[in-house]
Amino acid sequence: MRERITTQEARDYFGAILEDQLARIEKMKTSVDWTDYSAVKPVIVGICWGDGIGRIISKHAERVLKNMLPGEVDDGSIEFRDIQGLTIENRAACRKAIPDDVLSEIKKCHVILKGPTTTPQSGDGWPNIESANVAMRRELDLFANVRPVKISREGIDWTFFRENTEGAYVLGSKGIDVGNDLSVDFKVITEQGAERVIRMAFEFARQNGYKRVTAVTKANVVKATDGRFSRVAKRVSEEYRQHGIVQDEWYVDIMAAKLLDKQRRKDFQVIVLPNLYGDILTDEAAQLQGGVGTAGSANIGKRWAMFEAIHGSAPRMVEDGREAFADPSSMIRAGAMLLKHIGYKEKAFRVEMALDIAGQFERKISITGRKDGATGEEFTSYLLDLVGSADLEKKWDSFVEKPAI
Ligand code: IPM
Ligand code: MG
Repeated sequence: MRERITTQEARDYFGAILEDQLARIEKMKTSVDWTDYSAVKPVIVGICWGDGIGRIISKHAERVLKNMLPGEVDDGSIEFRDIQGLTIENRAACRKAIPDDVLSEIKKCHVILKGPTTTPQSGDGWPNIESANVAMRRELDLFANVRPVKISREGIDWTFFRENTEGAYVLGSKGIDVGNDLSVDFKVITEQGAERVIRMAFEFARQNGYKRVTAVTKANVVKATDGRFSRVAKRVSEEYRQHGIVQDEWYVDIMAAKLLDKQRRKDFQVIVLPNLYGDILTDEAAQLQGGVGTAGSANIGKRWAMFEAIHGSAPRMVEDGREAFADPSSMIRAGAMLLKHIGYKEKAFRVEMALDIAGQFERKISITGRKDGATGEEFTSYLLDLVGSADLEKKWDSFVEKPAI
C-alpha cells in the first residue's frame, strides 16, 4: 500500500519538488564538454546484461561488436568491460534501481551496451523500485533518446528524438496520494531540457540532409509543459530556416494515426517529442518496421552514451522456455549505433546493411520468437556471414532498389 499524505504535507512536498527541479535547471546551465572519442584510448565499452531475454540477446550483440573490432581490442583502442549486477534480483536485494557499486562501474566506462531490464510495477512481487533505464538516463544525463525506424520498401526513413530526462518520467516514481481519494503525478518540461534535445534533432537534420523536423505535443490541452516544448521548437527552428529545414507540429493523437497513413507517413523525417509521447510512438513505429525486436536505440548525453533495445525483458518468453528464440536484432542494431557513435561509421553501416538484408530482404533464416523459427545464435551467425561477405554492398543495393517485402 502506498503511503498517503495530508494536504499540508503535499504542499511542502510540492515546494521541495520545485526546489529540486530549479536546482536541476542550474546544473543544466553549467557547460559540460562532449566526449571526444577520437582523443580517448582505450574507449571503454561496458556491457550490462540485463534480465530475461536481455542476458541472451546482449551476448549476441557482444559477439557482433567483438567481431567488428578485433584489431582495435588488440591495439588497445577499445576495451570491453563486463558489468555484473544490473539484474532484477540484485536490484531488488539492494532496493535500488541501479546499485551504487554498479553505477560507479558504469561511470568508469565511456559507452554502455545495456540489455533489457525488468521494470517492476506495483503488485508484481518485486519491490517497487524505479526502472533501471529511467535511472540510468537520469544519472548519466542521457537527454536524447534517438530511435531510427526505416522501412525501405515504403521509403520510410524516420529518426525520433525522444526527450529522455524530463516529461512524465522525471518524477514518475514521485507522485503522491493525498488523503483517501486523490492521486497526483507530475510532468515537468524545462526550457533547457527541451532546447537541448530539439537542437540536437535540428543539427541531425542539417548534418544528414533532412529537410523537415516535426515536433509532437498535445499543446492544445497540456498547455504549460507541452506549450513550452512547442514554443522552444518554433524558436530553434528559426535558426535552421536558412538551411532549408522546415518545422511543423502535430498533436500526439493525430500523429499516432498518421504513422498508419500510407499516403502521408513517408513524408515525416526527423521527429522530436517529449518523453512519454516518444515512448509510445516509437513502439508504434518499430512495430511497422517489423516489431519492437527490430529496433535499437541510442541514449545520448554529453559525457556518456548508452545503447539498448527499445523493448523489455520479455518474461513471458522465458517462462515458456523460448528465450533462445528471441530476436537479437534490436540489441545488434543498438550495437551498430554504438559503433557509429564512437567513430566506426563504416563498420556500423556493414552491420546495419546485414541486419536489413537478413531481416527484411534475403531472410535465409527467420526469427519468429517461437520454436519454429531460428535461434538468436543461428541468426547472429548468419548475420556475421553477411557482414563478412564480399557482395554485401551489392546485395544491399539490390535490396534498396527492389526490396523483397
Ligand atoms: C523504453 C521502455 C522504458 C521506457 C521502460 C522499460 C521504463 O519502454 O525504453 O521505451 O518507458 O522508457
Ligand atoms: Mg518504451
